[in-house]
Amino acid sequence: MEAAALSRIGLAGLAVMGQNLALNIAEKGFPISVYNRTASKVDETVGRATFEGGLPLNGHHSPREFVLSIQRPRSIIILVKAGAPVDQTISTLSQFMEPGDAIIDGGNEWYENTERRIREASARGLLYLGMGVSGGEDGARHGPSLMPGGSFQAYGNIEEIVTRVAAQVDDGPCVTYVGEGGSGNFVKMVHNGIEYGDMQLISEAYDVLKVIGGLSNVELAEIFAEWNRGELESFLIEITADIFKVKDEHGEGELVDKILDRTGMKGTGKWTVQQAAELSIAAPTIAASLDCRYLSGLKEERESAARVLDEAGINGDVSVKRSRSIEKKGLVDDVRQALYASKICSYAQGMNLLRAKSEEKAWNLNLGELARIWKGGCIIRARFLDRIKKAYERNRGLANLIVDPEFAREMVQRQGAWRRVVGLAIEAGISTPGMCASLAYFDTYRRARLPANLVQAQRDLFGAHTYERIDRPGSFHTEWTKLARESKAGAVVL
Ligand SMILES: *[C@@H]1O[C@H](CO)[C@@H](O)[C@H](O)[C@H]1NC(C)=O
Repeated sequence: MEAAALSRIGLAGLAVMGQNLALNIAEKGFPISVYNRTASKVDETVGRATFEGGLPLNGHHSPREFVLSIQRPRSIIILVKAGAPVDQTISTLSQFMEPGDAIIDGGNEWYENTERRIREASARGLLYLGMGVSGGEDGARHGPSLMPGGSFQAYGNIEEIVTRVAAQVDDGPCVTYVGEGGSGNFVKMVHNGIEYGDMQLISEAYDVLKVIGGLSNVELAEIFAEWNRGELESFLIEITADIFKVKDEHGEGELVDKILDRTGMKGTGKWTVQQAAELSIAAPTIAASLDCRYLSGLKEERESAARVLDEAGINGDVSVKRSRSIEKKGLVDDVRQALYASKICSYAQGMNLLRAKSEEKAWNLNLGELARIWKGGCIIRARFLDRIKKAYERNRGLANLIVDPEFAREMVQRQGAWRRVVGLAIEAGISTPGMCASLAYFDTYRRARLPANLVQAQRDLFGAHTYERIDRPGSFHTEWTKLARESKAGAVVL
């Protein structure tokens, strides 16, 4: 039997994402070897490659045969569940790998696990990349956004492959070498946090339009489709328009109304908020989206709270006043602007989190370039990411997206609509935590003077934490209680 030619790359872990990424790589003309502990997964993938017209994909049931079937220096992508399965897969495969070979973990891994594995791999002469992969199964198959970080040499070995496999947009493939260490995983984590925020904000827009505006699913489908032709153009807006169109096969009306209002999650959103807290970066919109998922999980509690507060008469005060005959067209236009402005604040938070981490770890992240590789392939892909990219190109040290001259102008143009929507929602008792968090972030950030002076005074009073003054240098402590007793100021009757 003739010895088979060696593959250019290998991929282990053939769940949906792994299969699709392997087929994508093969389709771009790079012969690939695939492996999975479960033999049927290998056969399934080989079957798909054959069905798609004989893509250059070789299946292996033995980890040794798999590794040896790849040309050196080897690059092996692993796509298994984050955590222990990654360590297991590495130990299975690495025993057959040789110095100079590289492992590329494409899962949603915690960045510190990647940094540990980089050290362990390098002790054996192996290279390592932690590569964020976004775009779901369709992205993996037809062009994902890829966020590789770790060994630059390992990146060099697969650059020609990933630049062909990634989504392609007007200014290039949606992949770049992100930086050292676990930076690729960290960037993917923040991408997911931003994704949480986007989804929350869209759900709030839906809630306001449906409950206050009284819009039907048919109207919502039309409006989201229209929004997708303007400044909000994005994957999430597009799929939302589609969702409203799907009828319920088990009954009347549309499927969306029959879905239980309890959101699942896998952890990257939580990590994002934890990291924001660790780094003292305000990320209130992303945090609000996480809180909302927690509250959505309390379905039974919410149902009983609704009953209790209904009996206590809440609807007398906060029921939606349709009688005020909300003008639909105006409301739709306001909600669109509120959504856009809220989104900018959410992205500003995510970007600032990335910058803070980059400074802590000396990753030297290029925020404009990260916005660019999110323009295609990934779940948060959107037209306005091009504008974010340009904002950071104009000014690499931009303190906050909000103060980029173009975004600043847009925020100001939309603030009226934004405040109307949030005000209307608050009055009607429709919670819009994401939009409120974004607006509060905006209003806090843009105000030169905040009531933090009073908090400082309180801290100094009860804890002698001292304070600074606005009119002279140094730190000060005051005997507040004693001076207050002596003063007559409290005697004024209002
Ligand atoms: C193979 O498939 C199984 C089941 O689908 C999965 O749990 C496992 O992580 C996969 N990966 C490897 C490398 O065996």
